[in-house]
Amino acid sequence: MSTQPLLEKLQLGDLTLKNRIVMAPMTRSRADNPGNIPTELHATYYSQRASAGLLITEGSQVSKIAVGYINTPGIYSPEQVEGWEKTTSAVHENDGVIFIQLWHVGRMSHPDFHHGELPLSASALNPNEKSYTFEGFKETVTPKEMTLEEIKQTVLDFKNAAINAMDAGFDGVEIHSSNGYLFHQFFNGTSNVRTDQYGGTIENKARILFEVIDAIKEVMPENRIGLRLNPSLNGVFGMTMDEDTIPTFDYIIKRLNDYDLAYLHLSEPFTDVSKIPFAEKEIAKRYRPIYKGTIIINSSFDQEKGNKVIEEGHADAVAYAKLFISNPDLAERFEQNAPLADWDTDTFYTPGKKGYTDYPSLQPKELV
Ligand SMILES: Cc1cc2nc3c(=O)[nH]c(=O)nc-3n(C[C@H](O)[C@H](O)[C@H](O)COP(=O)(O)O)c2cc1C
Repeated sequence: MSTQPLLEKLQLGDLTLKNRIVMAPMTRSRADNPGNIPTELHATYYSQRASAGLLITEGSQVSKIAVGYINTPGIYSPEQVEGWEKTTSAVHENDGVIFIQLWHVGRMSHPDFHHGELPLSASALNPNEKSYTFEGFKETVTPKEMTLEEIKQTVLDFKNAAINAMDAGFDGVEIHSSNGYLFHQFFNGTSNVRTDQYGGTIENKARILFEVIDAIKEVMPENRIGLRLNPSLNGVFGMTMDEDTIPTFDYIIKRLNDYDLAYLHLSEPFTDVSKIPFAEKEIAKRYRPIYKGTIIINSSFDQEKGNKVIEEGHADAVAYAKLFISNPDLAERFEQNAPLADWDTDTFYTPGKKGYTDYPSLQPKELV
């Protein structure tokens, strides 16, 4: 019997995960075709990694306006649904479980993606970041503040994307409410200065997220819906924390207890926040006692730290990102305490197989 907590099964709603090793969502920009349709290559990539307890796909835009990067796949057209079916079938054939990450980048985009129209956000505030367009990096612009009608449409787009996700054979969805994208832009007082029911108070800033959860749960079981939060994100993806930031996440996470979600996926801070008085430095420790459901924790974990965080009871599962790029058989490698391969950052977002589906699994002779 294994002594590694990472290798124990985990009950996720009605799904039994074979281990607690989760592949974190990662944009890999291989949908380099006009319809942003996932291809056989995506199916190969994800099925190679199916020994993880749970795979979470790359962020997939829920509509045309939701996009902010080149060659990212969508989940709004029939052709994209058909494309994703190849991935879900291949993963299921390999006994894997796969959720799709539903994504709207909000202001982290550029007019080049929208025929010259402005990207949408909570408020007309430029994140002052760079956007990677077909012509290379460009400065972001001041987005357009969403009208109430556009907010309503966005909620519908997420609901529709959830329907498409089920049609494509996914086991569930992860709402991308993290990393400075649209919902995070609503949560944060430095990106949301609205004066209507979507701004001002903490309840108002969180409103759109709960409307999205409520809309999605009309079309799929609550226990197949996960969501991702990065409460202490600061200084990257256009996000600047303020004194209301952590209280906002406290409110959101407490309120998530009213739902029977598949999981809450949290990230430890991406940057050093030790000098920011109102930042939370230890996300899993703060939120474990508050959230009653399953917690997946992420960011900079290795095998040892992953086993430890579960052992100590601060999380139920651990999501690994970069390690999964270069170690398709990460679960087997952990099981065998085998060496890990390094990833090549040059091929994170480049088209084709290189750096995508050509990282080998360990050969039987290399396994003990
Ligand atoms: C190439 C790459 C693409 C990423 N794309 C996404 C994404 O689409 N959605 C998301 O929520 N996080 C994304 N992330 C963040 C990862 O999920 C993860 O939070 C981060 O890499 C830290 O985990 P790690 O230390 O295990 O790599 C991405 C990270 C990388 C390296």
